Amino acid sequence: MSKPFYITTAIDYVNGQPHLGHAYEKIITDVISRARRSFGQEVFYLTGLDEHGQKVQQAAQADGKTPQDYCDGLAADWQAFAQKLELTNNDFVRTTSTRHKQFVQAILTKLQIAGEFYQKTYEGFYSAKEETFLTEKDRHPDGTFDTSYGEVVKIQENNYWFKLKAHQRWLIDYIESNPSFVQPDYRRNEVLGFLKNNELEDLCISRPLARLNWGIPLPFDKDYVTYVWFDALVNYITVPANMGDKTLLALFPNLQPSTSQLQPALWPADIHVIGKDILKFHAVYWPIMLKAMGLPLPKQILVHGWWQKDGSKMSKSTGNVVDPVAIINKWGVDAFRFYVVRELAIGPDGNWTDSGFKSRYSAELANGLGNLVNRALSMLKRYRNGIVPARHDELAPDAAKVVAATQALLQESDLQGALQSIWQLVNRANQYVDQTKPFSLAKDPAQSQRLDEVLYNLVESCRVLAILLCPFIPGTATKIYTQLALTGLPDKFSAATWGGLQAGQTIGDPAPLFPRKDV
Ligand code: ME8
Ligand code: MG
Repeated sequence: MSKPFYITTAIDYVNGQPHLGHAYEKIITDVISRARRSFGQEVFYLTGLDEHGQKVQQAAQADGKTPQDYCDGLAADWQAFAQKLELTNNDFVRTTSTRHKQFVQAILTKLQIAGEFYQKTYEGFYSAKEETFLTEKDRHPDGTFDTSYGEVVKIQENNYWFKLKAHQRWLIDYIESNPSFVQPDYRRNEVLGFLKNNELEDLCISRPLARLNWGIPLPFDKDYVTYVWFDALVNYITVPANMGDKTLLALFPNLQPSTSQLQPALWPADIHVIGKDILKFHAVYWPIMLKAMGLPLPKQILVHGWWQKDGSKMSKSTGNVVDPVAIINKWGVDAFRFYVVRELAIGPDGNWTDSGFKSRYSAELANGLGNLVNRALSMLKRYRNGIVPARHDELAPDAAKVVAATQALLQESDLQGALQSIWQLVNRANQYVDQTKPFSLAKDPAQSQRLDEVLYNLVESCRVLAILLCPFIPGTATKIYTQLALTGLPDKFSAATWGGLQAGQTIGDPAPLFPRKDV
């Protein structure tokens, strides 16, 4: 059996409610997952929560709860949110779970025995907000730190450190000889620039209990907990290890997987989807951790940009936020999924505006796709009692071109490009209605044969569109299938070849896919 396609998202800090940025990352990962399954691949999609660290401990304190109670409460909200987005994640990891913690400790033990860690006292600056030590290099000329670090305090602390310097050369070579390892290219260049122009500082992997107790205890020193990033990154392997991944278990013979039925290996991951702010953790620290453990590296780190709202940073304190749940409740989950993927390619930063959302909703979904499907099916109902006429291939070449182009773009995880490609068929079919004027043909009995041809081309285009759209807007794609009275789901690209609708089949009842809203 071939290895499943293994794709992950960042695991979110559980210190508040999910926002647009979290939703975006999980949706693009879901679209890639669904597309891969539609190609016939087995997929394992992992997402979850990062529950340890000072940030979470402080949020719990402010809420008057123990960290565990606080996390348990919010974890339920985040899992409900994943369902609201209609994610097809195969598992949901929480870093406070036993299955995760025991593997983190096993890894720490292994690296400690291998001599990868040492102790030293550090005196300098610390940002609790970003859970990171800062150096002189991070200071502005006036001595201040970027506001993104929140409050920066001076500390003196003894900790365990992970030796990174020795790894710098091979990592540069690896990234240079594997161009697809970090994508898009400008993010890859960013990592290379960083690695070539700085000597890597060793990574602090512990926090003293005296300062922070909300973490995984270091197995070899009871006075410390594990640094939250060391704990968090490892989620990508603890879940497969717990499922019985043989490559991983070979390293930790003392650990018992949760199943005796060994699963096919998942590791290495095919894609880690992350945001641009955590690139260094994934493209520098994580590969080095894996190398030190003797494990293969993930095949790709796919880096998306950040959303703003109305041109400025989203922030709870100023109220400048997009509430995904409110949008979904009003406009439907597919409108939300469509908009974020169509508006923003994976890479650059994006900007949410309510007017931009509404204008794509009305132009592309209601008037574009919705109108096409509604017109095509209503005319077939009205003029032919809903019975599919004989096959006709006038739009077949247009459809075949779009199918091929869309599939090629999806293989590259170019989701925005794939939607643009699909809309070429939406627009072509709408233009075909305007050109062929089936409503006029219907008035002339001599044009009956021509009307049959036009109607077949239209409804068959709708069927092909449902299949192409399924990874993006699965609910809508399924509605199109249902309205066509097709059984099964539009979830296999192999069914996107022209001619699937059979003459004599009867379609179901058309109903608007994207009701127009007063805006
Ligand atoms: O960084 N636009 O968690 P997090 C787009 N726990 N993406 C955004 C965004 C925005 N405005 N704001 C955040 C963490 N994100 C760690 C990850 S992984 C082993 C540990 C993205 O909750 C951000 O880039 O701060 C990241 O990929 C994800 O949301 C979680 O951010
Ligand atoms: Mg963050």
